[in-house]
Amino acid sequence: MSSSEAVRKHKQYLFPAVSMYYQEPIELVKGEGDYVWDHEGKKYLDCFGGVLTTSIGHANPVVVDAVIDQVKKISHTSTLYASAPQSNLAEKLAQISPGNLSKTFFTSSGTEANETAMNAARAATGRMDIITLRHSYSGRSAQTLAGCGQSNWKKLPLPVSGIKHAHAPYCYRCPFGAKDNSNCSLECAHDIEELIQCETSGEIAAFMAETIIGSGGFMVPPKDYFKVATGIAKKYGGLFICDEVQAAWGRTGKHMFGISHYGVHPDIMVSAKGMGNGAPVAMTIATPEVADKYPGVTFATYGGNPVSMAAATATIKFVEDNNLPENCAVVGAYLGEKFAALKEKYAIIGDARGIGMMQAIELVKDRKTKEHNLQAVLTVFEETKKRGVLLGRGGIFGNIIRTGLMLNAGKDKVDEMVEAIDAGLALASKSN
Ligand SMILES: Cc1ncc(COP(=O)(O)O)c(C=O)c1O
Repeated sequence: MSSSEAVRKHKQYLFPAVSMYYQEPIELVKGEGDYVWDHEGKKYLDCFGGVLTTSIGHANPVVVDAVIDQVKKISHTSTLYASAPQSNLAEKLAQISPGNLSKTFFTSSGTEANETAMNAARAATGRMDIITLRHSYSGRSAQTLAGCGQSNWKKLPLPVSGIKHAHAPYCYRCPFGAKDNSNCSLECAHDIEELIQCETSGEIAAFMAETIIGSGGFMVPPKDYFKVATGIAKKYGGLFICDEVQAAWGRTGKHMFGISHYGVHPDIMVSAKGMGNGAPVAMTIATPEVADKYPGVTFATYGGNPVSMAAATATIKFVEDNNLPENCAVVGAYLGEKFAALKEKYAIIGDARGIGMMQAIELVKDRKTKEHNLQAVLTVFEETKKRGVLLGRGGIFGNIIRTGLMLNAGKDKVDEMVEAIDAGLALASKSN
């Protein structure tokens, strides 16, 4: 493989903290549907979609056409003027969002959307303390970084207070030592009460959580987790901020939003990533009670950008027209079965878990000790890359393989991906 000029310049001119996957990083030059191509023309099945962001296929013609049409009309207005793409998308979001979420503030990234949500909750309640989860990721601004529950991302002096981290619903490594998840008593959720009593003034602004903990490694909370956790938050005056940056747009199966699996309604919901199939767009949608209390005036230059709005509108329409929540339920279940079968085959898989098209395997050195096995993940990565399959990684120790196929991927793509992972695991198991 000839080395890529883009990779060389990336290493020379970008912040070193902007790290790339693989011993020999890949330069991607083209994408179409489920596949991407590198600078030498090698084709890969894209099983991560640029971190669950290309959601309905690279260069999806529906989105491409909508973007081109909009660019030809007007590509920037700012929120100082009304624009139909922004107003119409806000109306659409009000129609499809759970509960009474009906007023939106648009931005360009999940970070900004979560930042807005945290500010809105603090403004609406007049309180400071926000409970977030260990292992979570909420963004790279000072406040959202402080909200993160993963040290890797926040090795900076962070001048933010008022954030307390509750235990995560990480069932494979239950923070309360439960050996058997079948009779889980939701201690991680109940512990939020003592956290509030001991670590805050006794009143909170919000409980903020990802529906499915994404970069932490696809932890799927137990069925009643959010009922208990949000019930406690409410008891102490807190709003529920639901971070659906990864879990929205049908990815979890059956529903448009992941939180609909849990029978609770957020006061504020945030999404980004897959919302625009790769266009920089994010939303913070709130109940009128919360949105109306946002003080003063606020503004984001690129918020509501008509081109991003067009991309998001086309993406959401595509998801609805093709019933992709159902596709994610069916194909995701098929993938879940395949991963469960791999777990039977390879002892280095400690856990196979997920929901819909968010499926992961956690690799360990030993099933009894559950020691994290980053080396095995790296071996699987190099082997799957060779075989033309790109995967994602997650977890504080990088030992979790995450997959985020396109929402419209079929079972054939699962088979193609799993065959490559199987070969990678065989190799990794030999050297374990
Ligand atoms: C759950 C979650 N929230 C927020 C963010 C931040 O989004 P962005 O990188 O677009 O700022 C991410 C990014 O990975 C995320 O996964």
